[in-house]
Parts: sequence; C-alpha cells; structure tokens
Amino acid sequence: MWTGSDCPDEEALLSHVFSLLTPGKGLLVLDGPKWFQHRKLLTPAFHSDVLKPYLDLFVESTKDMLNKWDKKIQKDKCVNIFPDVGHMALDSLMKCIFGRSSNSQTQSDIIYYDAIRELTLLMQQRLAAFQYHSDFYFWFTLHGWKFLQACKVAHDYTDKVIRARKAALKEEEEREKIQGKKRLDFLDILLGPGDESNTKLSDADLRAEVDTFMFEGHDTTTSGISWFLYCMALYPEHQQLCCEEVQDILGNRDTIQWEDLGKMTYLTMCIKESFRLYPPVPQVYRQLSKPVTFMDGKSLPEGSLVSLHIYALHRNPAVWDKPEVFDPQRFSPENSSTRHPYAFIPFSARPRNCIGQQFAMTEMKAVIAICLLHFEFSLEPSRPAIKRLQLVLGSKNGIYLNLKKLT
Ligand code: HEM
Repeated sequence: MWTGSDCPDEEALLSHVFSLLTPGKGLLVLDGPKWFQHRKLLTPAFHSDVLKPYLDLFVESTKDMLNKWDKKIQKDKCVNIFPDVGHMALDSLMKCIFGRSSNSQTQSDIIYYDAIRELTLLMQQRLAAFQYHSDFYFWFTLHGWKFLQACKVAHDYTDKVIRARKAALKEEEEREKIQGKKRLDFLDILLGPGDESNTKLSDADLRAEVDTFMFEGHDTTTSGISWFLYCMALYPEHQQLCCEEVQDILGNRDTIQWEDLGKMTYLTMCIKESFRLYPPVPQVYRQLSKPVTFMDGKSLPEGSLVSLHIYALHRNPAVWDKPEVFDPQRFSPENSSTRHPYAFIPFSARPRNCIGQQFAMTEMKAVIAICLLHFEFSLEPSRPAIKRLQLVLGSKNGIYLNLKKLT
C-alpha cells in the first residue's frame, strides 16, 4: 500500500484514462450526490429477479465456448483459455444487461474485446514508464497514438450498442415489451424516464455508464473465471470435489436453475479462495476528502491519494495462516465468522462496493459448473506455474491449460 499527497501521479493518470474513455463520468469514478443518484437509479438492474433469467444466457454462452474448446483440442490439448473466457464473458454481458438478442458474438464484439485488452496493456505500460506520465510527451509517442485508436474503437462499439437500443425503443412492439416487464434491465433503466424525480441521464452520462459497465462487467469476471480454472488445474483434488458436487446437484441436467446455485457450497468456497489469491481487482484508489488519523496515532492529510492493495491484504500473514496455500476451508462458515469482515474484500466494501457482485457470482458459478461438467483442467508440464500476479495477464502471457473432454 502506498499513500501520500506527493506520491507519483498514478491516481491522476488512472482517472485521466477513464476520462479519455468517456467524456462523462461513470459510477466507478463519480462522487458526491451525482454518484448517489446514479447508484440509486442502477441498483434495481442487479436485483435477483432481474438476474434469474440471465442463468440460461450464461449457460448458452458457456456452451459456445466449450464447442470452441472441443475443436481446438483436436489439434492441441494445450489451450490459452483467457481470450476464450473473455469473449464468452463479453457475449453473455451483451445478452444480459445490454439486451442483445442474437445468439452468437459478432466480429465487432471481438474487435471491441481486443481494443479493451490493448487499452489495459497500454495503460499499465504508461503507469510503469515515468516519461509517459507527461500528457504532452505521451500523445506524441506510438503508444499514445495506439491508445487513441483503441479508445475510438471502444467508443464506436458502445455508441453502436446505444443507437441500436434507442432505435429498437422506437418500435411500438419493443416499447410494449419493456412496459410489460416485471423488472427493467440495465439499458431499459438508462434509456427510460429516469428516477422518481424524473432526472434523466445526459447523453455524456449515459455513454459513460455504458462504457463503465461494459468494461467492468466482462473484464473482472474474465479474470475471476480464468484464475479459478487455473487454481483447479494446480490443485486437482479440489477440482475433483467441485466436479462431484456439481454432478450431485445437476444429475443428468445440462442446465442450471437458480436454486442450484445456493447448493454449490464447496464450489463457492473454492471461488472465494481463488479470489483471495488472485483478486480480479488487485487494488483500489481513494483521495481523502478529510484528514484521517489511524489507531497508532499516525495521520494523513486531506487530499492524500491512497492505494489499498487488495492483493497484499489477502496474503497478509498476520490474518491468513500460510497465506500462499490454497485452502478453501478458510471460507467454511465457522472459519469465516472468526475473521474481520474487511480481511477479505474482492468486491471492496461499504457503499462503494461492487454493484455487480451478485451478477458476477451468479455468472461465475454457472459458467464454472458447466465447464467442470464437460472438461478436466490440468497444467501443461512444459509451462511453469504462474508465480506472480500479472495485472495484464490475458493480453500478455495468457493462461495455458491442458484440456481433456469428459465423456
Ligand atoms: C469477479 C467479478 C468482479 C469483481 C472482483 C469486482 C470488484 C469490484 C471492486 C473491488 C470494486 C470497487 C472499485 C473501487 O472502489 O475503486 C468494484 C466496483 C464496481 N463494479 Fe465490480 N467487480 C466484479 C464484477 C462486476 C460486474 C459483473 C459489474 C457490472 C455488470 C461490475 C460493476 C462495477 C461498478 C459499476 C463499480 C463501481 C461501483 C460504485 O462505485 O458505486 N463489477 N468492483
């Protein structure tokens, strides 16, 4: 964790990146009354009644990915799972919260996905290279040019999504379908009449929210699912137990019902343990709006930029016994109840916690259950186990696993 008002301008850089991505501000970087208004407006889009019908869509997109793997392993059993999981996560996000009806992903989904990967990589490289911190210098470099190109691709894609939904809303039939819905989905809410005080989002705010949810909604679950499968390959004994649990719950079914999710107790413990070791959001940033004094009497002034390192917190030996060991029993009800609630915060905590937490957990359980029913995952001996957290793992190094189809 680093703190201080004179720390390198990392926070400023990050918010700058977000402001480049969006002329308005999305939930993640908003603050004050506007953040509260957006959060209140969008919270109902993540109610469990809205999430329930998404289960079939998660399963559908997962099966498309498994078909892809089926073909790939005919040639080589070692597959880089990361981009395939990423395409699947974007595909299900498009169908769930952006209401796309088509069954398969389009070429522009793939182009968008690649642009986001490139932006993430370029952002990491910019943070790491001191000379790139200056805007003036950065925009005249090849990196800066590539960054702007990738931003344009991402914006064109989100604009297309908004235009398509606005056009659909002009159709009488579509309007009636939305009015008849028990619960509105994310885009219905964004394009609808606003909250009870009829405060409607401006076009810039609307685009910022679509950008934010498009990015947050697939990038995080991609990491979560990929790292989980990596953990299963590293620890086959836990893979076996998860697989048996899923088989017991689903029997001969290849579909998942809402009630099944609550029964996946061992799988959930393993997901939490993989979140502990490989948190998809490894650190969060805050700027202090007032001075803070800690228990030891030390204090930080107003305006300090604070980075809370979730990755380090989750491996703190003062809290976690043998922190490097994968042990799902840490998350048994008995063990969880003895720990401080903020010792484990993959979705952050308090009012600024993740709004998509339940969406993410529903997606992860459904996708992982179907994957484990159909494939066994193991490490490729020629590729050493990944030892270090790699923030831009997908685009840079990938996660290569051996896949074996289960009959
Ligand atoms: C495994 C999956 C996920 C993890 C680990 C995760 C983690 C987090 C964390 C740590 C934060 C706090 C960030 C900060 O304070 O700077 C956050 C915020 C947020 N997340 Fe997630 N997230 C996940 C999935 C999702 C999904 C699926 C969505 C949307 C569909 C989403 C949307 C958001 C938004 C909009 C915020 C900002 C909330 C606010 O400030 O009010 N996340 N997430």
